[in-house]
Amino acid sequence: MTDPVLLSPPDVGPLEESYVLDALRSGWVAPAGPHLEAFEREVAQRVGCAHAVALASGTAGLHLALLALDVRPGDVVVVPTLTFVATANAVVYTGAEPVFVDCEPATGNLDPALLDELLRNLRARGRRLAAVMPVDMFGACADYSRVLPLCAEAEVPVVEDAAEALGATRHGRAAGSFGRAGVLSFNGNKIITTSGGGMLLSDDADLIARCRYLSTQARQPVSHYEHTEVGYNYRLSNVLAALGRAQLRRLDEVVARRRQLRERYAKLFAAVPGVRLLADDDVGANCWLTTIAVDPAAAGWRAADLAAHLGAYAIETRPVWKPMHLQPVFAGARALLTGAAQRLFENGLTLPSGTAMTESQVVRVLNSIEQFLEGRCPGGMGR
Ligand SMILES: Cc1ncc(COP(=O)(O)O)c(C=O)c1O
Repeated sequence: MTDPVLLSPPDVGPLEESYVLDALRSGWVAPAGPHLEAFEREVAQRVGCAHAVALASGTAGLHLALLALDVRPGDVVVVPTLTFVATANAVVYTGAEPVFVDCEPATGNLDPALLDELLRNLRARGRRLAAVMPVDMFGACADYSRVLPLCAEAEVPVVEDAAEALGATRHGRAAGSFGRAGVLSFNGNKIITTSGGGMLLSDDADLIARCRYLSTQARQPVSHYEHTEVGYNYRLSNVLAALGRAQLRRLDEVVARRRQLRERYAKLFAAVPGVRLLADDDVGANCWLTTIAVDPAAAGWRAADLAAHLGAYAIETRPVWKPMHLQPVFAGARALLTGAAQRLFENGLTLPSGTAMTESQVVRVLNSIEQFLEGRCPGGMGR
């Protein structure tokens, strides 16, 4: 049987092995230790934020950021409808209500014009607007030059969900640094991984101190386990932080490789009618997942047809996130929509983008796509 080509599997090797071994041999097999502190420092420096706290997941980071901003039951938090469910779930954990907003068709990111309209509507209704959570979709930063002034005018803090975007930049600023707080994920499929983990970043020392305290069961600084409020067990371990540090050292290399992959896909699809790449003109994107959007009328085929063809050759693809307003769990939630996210869900496809792919696997993927396109694409293709 042919070896499967996965969408974005972990890419670890001898460097990661040596760091993890060091952590194990040091005796710091705990949610504390020198690798953990160094990982926080190094990620904060890389992103350009003053402070960071390493956590068990990106979801935990989103939850804590909202708690630290005093998001409460009855509040409203604006969330892009096109995202992974973790963004919306974090809002629900606090008891607040997520209100969904549609995306820009070209990037899949939060649509600033709609955000403007939504913020005005919500303010007119007198609801306490507690936060806006832009997501940097598939590793391309949202349009912060428009989003941030709107949020500043509405006096609402921004929690940047940069789970997919470490290594991306926009206008010279790094993903994770745009909001009052930014959140990264180190889940196994992300651009770098700790197998599972996340990080919360901010320039606000008090916010980070509050999140650090909540992430360790809200324990008072006394020896007898004193608690005055409910906390969480959300801390990352020193062993996993060691893995993260090794991965971080390779970040530039893996971003460069993902960008090269996107280039190759871009070249392959350039002459194919009805196909475009999401955020294809964003030179700062980390290209975590190269994503195509297909116009079935112009292309003569659907994204699902290509997915089925590649699946038959053991090549994994995934649809674009199913929008939150279409999820049964959020049935009845309020949303400001244009239909753009639903169209991307129906016509989008994420392609294998992992850096552990061998050259022969890359060629296999590209050849399989070409084979699919043959006969369907009179214009021909070139690589
Ligand atoms: C946009 C987005 N937000 C949040 C998360 C949650 O991160 P984690 O899986 O580390 O909890 C992910 C990824 O899993 C994500 O893609």
